[in-house]
Amino acid sequence: MAVTLPPILQKWISSPSVSLAFVPILFALYHLWAKPPRSLRIPKVGERVLILGASSGVGRTMARQYAERGARVCIVGRRAAQIREVQEECRQARTALGLKSQPDDILAIPGDFTSAEDMVKLRQTLETKWNGLDTLVVAAGVSALQPLLAVAGVETEAGKSKIPLTTKAGVQRAADIASAAIQGNYTGPLIAAVTFVPQLSNTSNAPSIVLINSLASVIPAPTRTIYASTKSSSLLLYQALSIEHPNITFTSVMPSTIEGDFRASAVDNGPVRESNPNKHGLKREDVARRCIQAADDGEKTLFMPGSMRYAHLLYWLWPALIERFARKKYNFRA
Ligand SMILES: NC(=O)c1ccc[n+]([C@@H]2O[C@H](COP(=O)([O-])OP(=O)(O)OC[C@H]3O[C@@H](n4cnc5c(N)ncnc54)[C@H](OP(=O)(O)O)[C@@H]3O)[C@@H](O)[C@H]2O)c1
Repeated sequence: MAVTLPPILQKWISSPSVSLAFVPILFALYHLWAKPPRSLRIPKVGERVLILGASSGVGRTMARQYAERGARVCIVGRRAAQIREVQEECRQARTALGLKSQPDDILAIPGDFTSAEDMVKLRQTLETKWNGLDTLVVAAGVSALQPLLAVAGVETEAGKSKIPLTTKAGVQRAADIASAAIQGNYTGPLIAAVTFVPQLSNTSNAPSIVLINSLASVIPAPTRTIYASTKSSSLLLYQALSIEHPNITFTSVMPSTIEGDFRASAVDNGPVRESNPNKHGLKREDVARRCIQAADDGEKTLFMPGSMRYAHLLYWLWPALIERFARKKYNFRA
């Protein structure tokens, strides 16, 4: 049954001064109902952090930075020697902090995040050693650097109108390279989510997942057809998953070029066309620090640099402008 307020009360409520008075009340209620910050629910010392892809790059730097503030860290990658090195770095970081460490505080477990067997074994190890998990960082990924037709063996030349036909072997090669990129950039994140979402939900007071994605997922670039499309599929996967699991805080990180050797792992063995990423790229230390802060604060999306959030918007308003910049950045002429 609809309740009708007396006209005098209706007039009073609709007056601007009364509406304004509700603003601080709503603000206070919002804060009353909002969850307390993650740092109150998960103390930084002792936070249980799993990093997939921690043998080098951003994942490795995050492992050290988490250890420096007293977290328990599990370092995962396929290269066993590298992850042992990272384990030693993390142990030293905890010691420098004056923290007494147990052997299981820093774990190094060789594994492939595209293998269901490796991930389920890893989950069992975390259950046994830590009774669960608070934070999952998915840093692992693979690059691909060539224009799509170059992957298939056809180099297009600027100004030439005719493009040679691709061969059957070339078409198959493009499909095989795309499969390798799908494994590293989509299947791995999917297996990680399916394996660890239940464990995070069941064992943490404030579960969090950080996906290190890429700006290329939301702003298209030449020579990044396979890379960008496979990264964007995992971005959508995690964004949709976050709606299915509102108890977990999902953070998607979209960095532009970062210093380091990421391009050496290119599944298409392509050449690096842009200027030296180690000169102009984002610093790993900065990216790692911002990712950790974003997880602490429960930020949904993190663009790096921050201004790229607007470049992403601009693409929908004025695509030709963004495409011109993208061609220039990747030194691409068509
Ligand atoms: N570098 C950039 O310019 C840039 C820009 C934007 C976004 N990103 C994203 O940032 C993330 C980190 O890149 P990075 O620059 O730190 O590169 P990186 O140094 O090559 O690190 C990649 C990490 O992923 C691991 N990895 C790859 N495949 C794996 C697998 N199947 N199983 C387990 N671990 C695997 C590697 O370890 P193993 O080889 O030992 O397995 C390595 O530890 C990637 O997801 C990338 O897409 C990078």
